[in-house]
Amino acid sequence: MEKKILVTGATGTIGKALIKALTEQKANFVAATRDVNKLPQKVNAIAFDFEDASSFAKATADVDRVFLLAPPLNTKADDLLIPFIEHLEQEKIKRVVYVSALEIDALPSMPFHANTIKLMQSKGFELTVLQPSFFAQNFKNYEFENITKHNIIYAVAGEGKVGFVDAEDIGRVAATALTTHGHSGKFYEITGPELLSYFDAANVISEVIGKTIVYPNPTAEQFTQTLAQAGAPAFIADYMIDVYSLIANNRVNKVTSVVENVTGRKPTSLKEVIKRDFSK
Ligand SMILES: NC(=O)c1ccc[n+]([C@@H]2O[C@H](COP(=O)([O-])OP(=O)(O)OC[C@H]3O[C@@H](n4cnc5c(N)ncnc54)[C@H](OP(=O)(O)O)[C@@H]3O)[C@@H](O)[C@H]2O)c1
Repeated sequence: MEKKILVTGATGTIGKALIKALTEQKANFVAATRDVNKLPQKVNAIAFDFEDASSFAKATADVDRVFLLAPPLNTKADDLLIPFIEHLEQEKIKRVVYVSALEIDALPSMPFHANTIKLMQSKGFELTVLQPSFFAQNFKNYEFENITKHNIIYAVAGEGKVGFVDAEDIGRVAATALTTHGHSGKFYEITGPELLSYFDAANVISEVIGKTIVYPNPTAEQFTQTLAQAGAPAFIADYMIDVYSLIANNRVNKVTSVVENVTGRKPTSLKEVIKRDFSK
């Protein structure tokens, strides 16, 4: 009989969507977080910290599948995850659905997802790798104040195009990969339905919220300066410039049929996500 699914990153953008999908499916899962108070009481939660090996045993008790998510903005995420991956190996928990990112391997400065995948492959894990495109939720999560107070979206993405993806679609792909067979060894490039530039995204947001939002298309120097003036640590600008270069250099200008193939549902458009996120 199947045991439980452990969901790491359960309080995050994908994690919340995955929990919703698993709950709808009535799947047996446990949600991991450093602070169980962050999750609704009806969710089966467990205290868990990648940095605290003493939290691993309880979190993986009666678990046979793991959704593994590395926290963002951490260029040492591979090192952070190693002790937990070794624990999974010891416990013979081999079925893992891991979140990487679309075309991230094109960035020499960000080898952490590739390193983590290689480590799990070398240990013989039954691995499914999710490679989502840029989240449509980034506008709510990271640009809310810019949009609502300053009427801009601020990225250093040039004129490149990207298939913004709804985190709920990622959550549904993850839930399917965790609860049905045939996904081991697969790499799923998960995108939304249409290619949009940041100029296009500004138009979509303007239309939905009913005021003009501008994408100023800053240079890397302007972007770095603006973030420094806003008090952000220097590494954030460097990290974001690298990530946005995937769009600016047209590395991620693709849409795939993964969402529909895996879940049977059409992917959600940026416009629908903006409506959902900005009408709350
Ligand atoms: N944003 C994008 O456009 C995009 C695109 C492609 C791929 N990605 C990838 O997606 C991942 C980020 O996903 P997300 O946006 O869903 O994350 P998120 O919303 O920022 O949430 C991060 C999660 O990590 C957990 N966490 C942080 N430190 C932890 C620790 N020491 N131990 C255990 N859990 C810890 C947090 O849980 P608690 O605080 O509750 O403990 C939280 O649930 C990254 O790996 C990124 O590379 C992002």
